[in-house]
Amino acid sequence: MEIHRFEKLWVALSLLLIVGFIGTVTYGAVGAGVKMVDDTGGTVDANALNDHPRFGEPGTYQTGENQYDVYVITRQFLFEPGTNEPLRVPAGATVTFHITSSDVIHGFEVAGTNINLMAVPGQVSTVTVQFEETRSYGMICHEYCGAAHHTMEGQLQVVPQSEFTSSDLQNPEAFGDSEEPVNENQPDDGEEETE
Ligand code: CUA
Repeated sequence: MEIHRFEKLWVALSLLLIVGFIGTVTYGAVGAGVKMVDDTGGTVDANALNDHPRFGEPGTYQTGENQYDVYVITRQFLFEPGTNEPLRVPAGATVTFHITSSDVIHGFEVAGTNINLMAVPGQVSTVTVQFEETRSYGMICHEYCGAAHHTMEGQLQVVPQSEFTSSDLQNPEAFGDSEEPVNENQPDDGEEETE
């Protein structure tokens, strides 16, 4: 069978395109460092978050030297903490976010990072990150959650280790005696404290 050379050319180009598509999809899946959120965060009673040992007092908990767990509740239409007061974490630390919702499905996105979780009532979504830069990030809800969805935002401040004090922790007693990074003797820098 004779195939016209133009036809051969187009067949070859089509195959090349398909190989290219497979290549880019494969790179996006395994080469770009994209991680899927799994269900290791576990479950929680969305109607009894007040009784939960951590979600009852959401915020930043120190769990080890330079390791922190951050608990955030999403609700119509705020992040708690994050909206009424900024969430604070120290730069260079390993931070695991635990996100859940007290009412409907919300989103938890830290703009400019790859932190992007769904906040589902009864489920806890987790992601572990390190912030090297000291700067502040906007937090936004990216799942439509009601009439004021577009107003649901908050702030995450990544502060130098020296400015992160035990007053930023929900469990200051746990590691408050360690020499670093939490230091109760920091001079008062005018940051207002929660509570
Ligand atoms: Cu919460 Cu949209």
